[in-house]
Amino acid sequence: MTDRNQPSLAWGTRTFLAFVLVVAASMLSIAIVALIVGPPLFHEHMLELGHTGGAAEMVHAEQAFFDAGVRSLGAGLVVALGLATLLAWWETRRLRRPLDQLTSTAKQLESGDYTARVAIGVGSPEFGAVADAFNDMASRLDSTEDSRRRLLSDVAHELRTPLSTLTAELEAISDGLVPWDREGHELLAQQAARLQRIANDLSDVSRAEEGRFELDPHPVPVAELVDHAVAQFRPRYASKGVELVAAADGGVVVADAQRVGQVLGNLLENALRHTPSGGHVRVSAETFKGDARISVTDSGEGLTPDQRDRVFDRFYRTDTSRARDAGGSGIGLTIARSLARAHGGSLTVESPGPGDGATFTMILPGSPLPERTSS
Ligand SMILES: Nc1ncnc2c1ncn2[C@@H]1O[C@H](COP(=O)(O)OP(=O)(O)OP(=O)(O)O)[C@@H](O)[C@H]1O
Ligand SMILES: [Mg+2]
Repeated sequence: MTDRNQPSLAWGTRTFLAFVLVVAASMLSIAIVALIVGPPLFHEHMLELGHTGGAAEMVHAEQAFFDAGVRSLGAGLVVALGLATLLAWWETRRLRRPLDQLTSTAKQLESGDYTARVAIGVGSPEFGAVADAFNDMASRLDSTEDSRRRLLSDVAHELRTPLSTLTAELEAISDGLVPWDREGHELLAQQAARLQRIANDLSDVSRAEEGRFELDPHPVPVAELVDHAVAQFRPRYASKGVELVAAADGGVVVADAQRVGQVLGNLLENALRHTPSGGHVRVSAETFKGDARISVTDSGEGLTPDQRDRVFDRFYRTDTSRARDAGGSGIGLTIARSLARAHGGSLTVESPGPGDGATFTMILPGSPLPERTSS
């Protein structure tokens, strides 16, 4: 940490001196007031009792009063000052302890130890609230760092396969072991496309991992979201021979239409890829108690319970070798679920089992606007 305009004395010492100074100033005021007010009052009382001003007896009594007053006041002030200093020292130490702990934990975080946390329960409830907020921040840093580390190793792993295929193929061609033909060209183009896809998706993946998508939500009819996504896929479904049907009610949802389109696009792409010719895919959207529920059901390959649990994992594909070459990178659903969550909603999957198709359901919270319309 940098030394920005640091005062020469430590905070604890300054607080302690401030305490002592306050106590000393109040005692000095007490002493001055007592010495100014006390003797004239005593003098007045003596006159009221019938003593004559200036008489030797009266002078002696007044001197005795003054001496006794100064001594007892002096002794009292010394004891009080000692006690106050002791209390000030103890209180300063008590206040300093949690702050010292906060500083040393912040230093640990700064040096890269993201597991460091401040002990809750040390100091006042106000400090407890600061410690809570600080620990939340540290946990967030810890999980971001952890996901960054895992992401890097996953990405390195993902890049390795297409890169080694490319390298091996190029070496074989340059050594004359394999002819430069159409098949070889396609293989290289496929691997290059795969690298391109990974590169395109990477920025979304890290945003998805850290849950920091920026949305631009507006009220939009669910029918519009569905129609738009379906229209883009119709030609490809028709050419594969997979029936595509869509149905939506007249509800409106507040959502980022482009991002929801991205989610539906991935679901429709997946359904097309995993449904054989002659099969069918149904997209339905309904609004219920303010929530929009959009689902994509296919009659395709389906999923085992284990696959169901893992499809949202980053870079997960059920059929590794074939899907790697012909399919995607296995991050579409990771991004899709994160986008649904960024809307305050969810994305889940159900499947009766392999060969019986799958249903992906996205829930989006309903419109908070009073002028909800149905069209
Ligand atoms: N409708 C489905 N039926 C069967 N399996 C599916 C279906 N949708 C997804 N999967 C499985 O889940 C995996 C992950 O899907 P995801 O969309 O995340 O990745 P992907 O489609 O392989 O690649 P991309 O990143 O381009 O979307 C797929 O590889 C596939 O194995
Ligand atoms: Mg996909």
